[in-house]
Amino acid sequence: MGAASVRADFEVERLRSQVSTLEQLLAVHEKTALEQSRRLENIVNSISDGFFVLSREGRVTYLNQVAAALFMRMGAGSSDLLGRPLWAKFPNLAGGAVEQNFSRAMHDRAQITFEARFEPVDLHLEFHAYPWEDGLSVLFQDVSARKLNDLRREQMQIELERQVQLRTADLQATLSELEAFSYSVSHDLRAPLRSLDGFSQALLEDYSDSLESDGKLYLERIRANAQKMAQLIDALLQLSRVTRAEFNPAPVDLSALVRQIASDVRASDPRRDCEFTIEDGVSAEADARLIEVALQNLLNNAWKFSSQRRQTRIQFGVAPHNGVLACYIRDNGAGFDMKYSEKLFTAFQRLHDVREFEGTGIGLATVNRILKRHGARIWAESAPGQGACFYFTLNGLSAEAPKAKSA
Ligand SMILES: Nc1ncnc2c1ncn2[C@@H]1O[C@H](COP(=O)(O)OP(=O)(O)OP(=O)(O)O)[C@@H](O)[C@H]1O
Ligand SMILES: [Mg+2]
Repeated sequence: MGAASVRADFEVERLRSQVSTLEQLLAVHEKTALEQSRRLENIVNSISDGFFVLSREGRVTYLNQVAAALFMRMGAGSSDLLGRPLWAKFPNLAGGAVEQNFSRAMHDRAQITFEARFEPVDLHLEFHAYPWEDGLSVLFQDVSARKLNDLRREQMQIELERQVQLRTADLQATLSELEAFSYSVSHDLRAPLRSLDGFSQALLEDYSDSLESDGKLYLERIRANAQKMAQLIDALLQLSRVTRAEFNPAPVDLSALVRQIASDVRASDPRRDCEFTIEDGVSAEADARLIEVALQNLLNNAWKFSSQRRQTRIQFGVAPHNGVLACYIRDNGAGFDMKYSEKLFTAFQRLHDVREFEGTGIGLATVNRILKRHGARIWAESAPGQGACFYFTLNGLSAEAPKAKSA
């Protein structure tokens, strides 16, 4: 065997060994690549979103299990989709907008998010497309439930607004009714009131010599009450006009106010045996004129609905009630059934026969509105034949001298 032939054999052997090494390396690479691709597939299949890959021409080259399941709901199996353009199978997907969006993402090389509705099965999908060199990766999810909730919320909002509008219209109608009522009352009552006041004044001036001091006092009272009534009408008028009517809260001595009203009330029938118990030093932030109207109404009610008692007892004070500090006006009169207690604060609602106790049923509605304007509230406690107690809150309510004093 020549030297040349030995060299050739050696060379062949070396090349063989190199080929074998390369084959081993390739096998290792293939194994690694396969493992990586499996791992990647596991990851892609473990996400809750649908995921698919589109080639530059828009053909589906890969889709995960969630995507396959979603497309199946839309009527296409994986085999129908793989290797074919997505929109060839779903030409109606949002009227072609999906195709346009994907093309734009690829062309602009920009990530894009959009929604599309698949009408035949009423499926709402949200797509997130991420471009790369040879195509597009797309994540998408079924957002139908969220869309339905949004729609329901929108409809509820519309319904709510409609109801608010209806209520506002109702309220406005009631307000204008009250306004009209107050105007007519004011017009009808003003003339007789003026003449009551005028003739009382004339009596005082022209017949002063023939009147005894009691007579003069009564006439003064008539005049004072006629003037108060005119003020009350004005207060009602102002209250009924608009919610923007003037409102001037300031510290008010409620005890003094109640004492003054109690004295007027008592004077309306001095023969009645009545004991007023008025707590001293009760004050609050309130509009003095409006709160006086409210207290007049409450005390007049206490006086009126206890008129059949041999001895009337009316109390005013401050006490914690239902977890809040509240003013109260209590009487020992006819009382009422608590079943109807909410009704009382609505205009023209009365629980007693007018032949037994006269009245129009506007008083407590007025009180309620006045307290509402103060951001306060009123409630009552009573039982038939057991007297009644009306509670109300007010800002800055305080009772500095909690000793009760008989008036
Ligand atoms: N202190 C009370 N005791 C028993 N019932 C009361 C008392 N206060 C109010 N009510 C009941 O609530 C109803 C409504 O009271 P409200 O003051 O609005 O009307 P009114 O006193 O009958 O008439 P108006 O005040 O307009 O002259 C009364 O008719 C009466 O049935
Ligand atoms: Mg009343």
